[in-house]
Amino acid sequence: METISRTKIVDVLKSDAFGTTVNVRGWVRTRRGSKQVNFIALNDGSTINNVQIVVDVDQLGEEFLKPITTGACISVNGLLVESQGKGQSAEIQATEIEIYGTADPATYPLQKKGHSMEFLREIAHLRPRTNTFGAVFRIRHHMAIAIHQFFHDKGFFYFHTPIITASDCEGAGQMFQVTTQNLYELEKDENGSILYDKDFFGKPTSLTVSGQLEGELAAMALGAIYTFGPTFRAENSNTPRHLAEFWMIEPEVAFNEIKENMDLAEDFIKYCVQWALDNCSDDVKFLNDMFDKGLIERLESVLKDEFVRLPYTEGIAILEGAVAKGHKFEFPIYWGADLASEHERYLVEEHFKRPVILTDYPKEIKAFYMKQNDDGKTVRAMDVLFPKIGEIIGGSQREEDYDKLLTRATEMGLPEKDIWWYLDTRRFGTAPHAGFGLGFERLLLFVTGMTNIRDVIPFPRTPKNAEF
Ligand code: 4AD
Ligand code: MG
Repeated sequence: METISRTKIVDVLKSDAFGTTVNVRGWVRTRRGSKQVNFIALNDGSTINNVQIVVDVDQLGEEFLKPITTGACISVNGLLVESQGKGQSAEIQATEIEIYGTADPATYPLQKKGHSMEFLREIAHLRPRTNTFGAVFRIRHHMAIAIHQFFHDKGFFYFHTPIITASDCEGAGQMFQVTTQNLYELEKDENGSILYDKDFFGKPTSLTVSGQLEGELAAMALGAIYTFGPTFRAENSNTPRHLAEFWMIEPEVAFNEIKENMDLAEDFIKYCVQWALDNCSDDVKFLNDMFDKGLIERLESVLKDEFVRLPYTEGIAILEGAVAKGHKFEFPIYWGADLASEHERYLVEEHFKRPVILTDYPKEIKAFYMKQNDDGKTVRAMDVLFPKIGEIIGGSQREEDYDKLLTRATEMGLPEKDIWWYLDTRRFGTAPHAGFGLGFERLLLFVTGMTNIRDVIPFPRTPKNAEF
């Protein structure tokens, strides 16, 4: 076959260089047609749209075309021509085809359309070849680029925090331990305690639940930073919104207080949503039409609405009022309760009908590092709550006072010896600062309209599931 340099299908479909010879390569979505002419829908992942390959059956031979079935990978040389079909711009009249790899119709699992999401999760190695997951993973890429662009333009530095750590930032005890010890022959002292000085790092270590503590150190030197990396939580919650391994974006800014922190969070999410509408329109439209007819409308409405900013105490009063009027929640609601997703969604979807930033939570249900309010009961926390999702961002102004921070850490059982380096920032040149964490997959749930977080990450890690 003649060697012609490859054109991506996304570019072929935009091209009007009719009459030129092009080469495209990709995976066959369908082949149909008659004894005289075949139509192959070819997709190479560069766009949700397929290019149509028109084949003269006599020219290439019926026998030759037989193995070109759904899932096969082929390379096509042909003439770019203006499409006769409605809604398509260009198609290719094949002159030569090379078959790279066949896909036996008896065993290739992606035959018909309309597989369930559950089934597709079981074949996560192949699901990127479906329209839906192609769209989701292209959007995932674009959102990552949007995030870097947003912070870069604002003068934030991308800062890399460690994956392996000896401290529990959130203090929730949901960490995956990291060890090289032989678990069958653990060395213990006379009290039965494990001798960690024999372990690789000489002390207990885990996968990080958040890069925040190290991010704060950087903010207290570089001014404004963000992290963007994988985080790990061994929480045994099998919900459509929790992963054991997820990606988090954590900006941290010196001299910001809670108000600026909220402004940043709101700007940030709106920027990402706008980016998706501007740069992923084919994919977003596909997901809107196929899965969630309200998706584009929801994305646009978030852009135009100002987020409600509301203290937790007032949020509780609204929820208690709803209960008094007969609204049924699964979990009890009272001042001091941690909000369940049903409560968050009630505030956002039923009461305010737009995103809500809830602030000033009871200190008992928040982490040790949050700045304490003068009331002695609440901390300067802020959670951003979104339609369909619930909590999408969690953040706070940080406690910058050394004594208050140490007292709270001790009360919450965090040993000083584990966080002496963190406390040092409050000993040397401390300053007000604030930050937050955005769950990358929660953002993707919102932008794609997918309903299960397992469907916005290529290879989900959840309790009892680490396949692929
Ligand atoms: O609210 P979280 O636990 O906050 C922190 O980790 C802070 N250190 C962030 C900071 O202030 N720098 O987590 C932040 C966000 C949540 O709002 C949620 O979007 C996401 O991370 N998240 C999860 N996403 C998927 N699966 C899980 N198990 C998640 N846990 C939290
Ligand atoms: Mg949170």
